[in-house]
This record gives sequence, structure tokens and C-alpha cells, in this order.
Amino acid sequence: MDHFQYRDGVLHAEDLPLSAIADAVGTPVYIYSRATLERHARTFAQALSILPRVHIAFAIKANPNLAVLRLMRREGFGADVVSGGELARALAAGMPAQDIVFSGVGKTHAEMIQGLEAGIGQFNLESEEEGIELAAIAAARGQTAHCALRVNPDVDARTHAKISTGKAENKFGVPIDRAVEIYTRLAALPGLDMRGVAVHIGSQLVELEPFEIAFEKVGALIADLRAAGQSVTHADLGGGLGIPYKAGEVFRTPAEYAMMVARVTKDWDVTLMFEPGRVICGNAGVLLTRVIRVKRSSNQAPFVVVDAAMNDLARPAMYGAWHDFDAVEPRGEKMTAHIVGPICETGDTFAMNREIDAVATGDLAVFRSAGAYGATMASSYNSRGFVAEVMVDGDKWAVVADRIEPAAISAAERVPNWLD
Ligand code: LLP
Repeated sequence: MDHFQYRDGVLHAEDLPLSAIADAVGTPVYIYSRATLERHARTFAQALSILPRVHIAFAIKANPNLAVLRLMRREGFGADVVSGGELARALAAGMPAQDIVFSGVGKTHAEMIQGLEAGIGQFNLESEEEGIELAAIAAARGQTAHCALRVNPDVDARTHAKISTGKAENKFGVPIDRAVEIYTRLAALPGLDMRGVAVHIGSQLVELEPFEIAFEKVGALIADLRAAGQSVTHADLGGGLGIPYKAGEVFRTPAEYAMMVARVTKDWDVTLMFEPGRVICGNAGVLLTRVIRVKRSSNQAPFVVVDAAMNDLARPAMYGAWHDFDAVEPRGEKMTAHIVGPICETGDTFAMNREIDAVATGDLAVFRSAGAYGATMASSYNSRGFVAEVMVDGDKWAVVADRIEPAAISAAERVPNWLD
């Protein structure tokens, strides 16, 4: 359930008509609902409260906006970060370092130092090589890095290939059948406190079964590690829970997910960690756009050209992802159209032959479910700027990220004098 609903024929974010934001900030603009973010965070946390010891680290890659992070902090969430930039954001948003987990296959030397300096709670190691490097840095600084070993369980997440992470051929984690050996060697190194295992098999999972298969394997691994004399006090089960992108779709709920986790992990005796991203913020945001014109040609559906493009919302171009498209003030008629942005490549297509609210030049419309992996994946392709972001709270609202104009981007560029 989200707080983007029609009132008197006008789409609102909470108590605010979206047209008011378009008038004040222009389009395209991402709009987040405070109440929806909060509701999703609470639903997720509440579902997991049936488990004995839980730590939730919001996967900030899904939406790293500082206002969103501050809200997550208010809900008691920590952060899952994958770069020095994300780590800095988490700290800037007031996340205690202890509640931060650093994931990712390519942590650099500098990022490891940054994590140690901040005193983050856990590094999720993705290879033995990474563990050896981190051990040396930590030991030289007289510190101990608390770590989990991310394993690759070789499980098909049954999601889009580009966002599957738990198959043997994916770059993530160490092969689960080598995990005891690698964990044991890393645990012997000064500078490291190997305290657990981590797994994340992919994103936008619409079934619970792949999670369950992966978690069963992790349970067996924990038993093997303990049998080998290793200590395991934490298990990070990653993120990945999918969300509905089409009106009327019904998915597995956080409560069902939590019950499955409770069943599979009942004998683990660990602190369970979670890294949800999309399930918290995906349906808490829309991308508001304006129709530039409707281009009609003789023998096919018209092109609705909107002022948002693949640089603002990359998911349709990148993954063929579906985002519902709704007029802000629907007239009650429908049309079948292709929805495209202004960018000069055919990939800049949001939908083909889609039945949508009939729209005309100047109309406002939204792409729904754009709160996760939306603004954060934007680029400035075609010398378009970076889109603004707004957060609504009841009938108040605030710009939480300024629009970055093309001129501000080109201001960072230099023409060397030897080109004169
Ligand atoms: N933990 C790790 C280690 C991850 O790699 C990810 C997402 C998450 C947690 C959060 O997953 P979530 O709960 O959001 O599914 N750009 C793609 C999604 C990429 C996901 C990458 N990793 C998209 O737009 O669909």
C-alpha cells in the first residue's frame, strides 16, 4: 500500500496534489512519500520481530538520498554500503558506524581504510584476497575488522539475469563449498574477527523458494564451520524481496518472508542481518513527468514523448523493466501508445503498445514504483541535468535534492590550453 492516490480526480502524494509540485519545481522530478517509506520500514521490521536477534541495514544503493537515509535512521535501521561514497552518506545521515555493513567485490585499499577509520560494524568479504588485504591494513593500524564471509550458494534467484548474484558464474562471494577452508584461513589472520557469513542471491525476487534454498545451504555451512571449530555469531541474509510493479499484482509479503526465515534459521543461534532496499523504498516514490507532445504516425500507436528519459529512470532501458504510467489528472479515456523520452536512441523507451490514460501535450503523468534504483541510477546523457527529488509529508513538502543543471555539470570540465 502506498500514499500515491487519486483525490477528486487528481493524483496526490499524501495530501498534496502532484500538480503543485510540478508548478513549483518543474519536471521531471522524483517524489517520495514520507508516510509510505515509514510504513514499509515498519512493516518489514515488524515482520522480522518474530526472530530473536535482528539487525536491519537499509541497502542504500536503492535510494541514497540523505533525507531518505535520515528517515531510515529514525526507524532504527543501519546501512548496507558498497562504496566510500555510500559510507560517507550513511555517516552524514547520522547512522552510527557500528550499524554499517560494507559489501561489494571491489573495495579499494582507500575504502578499507575509510571503513576502519569510521569504525564500521562489519565488512562483508567477497574473496580470500580481499580478506588478506583488509587483515594487513587493520593489523598495521592496530585495529580489528569485524567480518562476514559472503558465500555464493549457486542458486538461481529466478529474476532478471543482470540482477542475479548467487549463481556460480556471478562475481559475488566465495564458492560455498570452499567457504570453510577460506573462513578458517582468514580467521587465523591478525586484524580480522571472522564472525559470520553473508549471502545475497539477487534482487526483485518474486518467489520465496530461491531464498529458502540459499538459506538452507547457509545453515549447513554454519554447522560445518562450527564443527571445524570456528565461531559464527552473525548471518547476513542480504536483501532481494521483490515488489509489485503493476497495479493489482500481489506478492509474497514481508510477513511470509519472515516466517520462512524463522523456520529455516531456528537452530542457527546467530544475530540475523538483513539488507532490504527495494522493498522499503520502491513503491514509496514516483517520477513525475510532463508530456512534451504526442507524435502520431499513420499506421501504428502514437508516441507519447515525455520530458523524463532513460538518463533519469534507467530501469526500462536497462532491464526491460515495467513501471506503471498514470496521468495525474486522467480524463477517463484510454489510449494505446508507446511512451518514450527525448534521448536520441531507441533504447529510450519506457513502454511499447501500452494501454494508458489518454494524454495530450502539457499533461502531467507519473512512472510509479520509482523510489528504488531511480534517481540514484541517473546520468547526464545527452547533456541533460540530474533530476530533482522532493519528499512529501502530509501537505508539506521539501526539495531533498536540487536539480543539477547541465551548466553545473559542464562547469566541472576543462579545455586544456594546448587545444587553443
Ligand atoms: N545487499 C546486496 C549485497 C546487494 O547487492 C543488493 C542489491 C541489496 C542488498 C539490496 O537488494 P534489494 O533488497 O533492493 O533487492 N539496479 C537494479 C537492482 C540492483 C540490485 C543490486 N544489489 C534494479 O533497478 O532493479
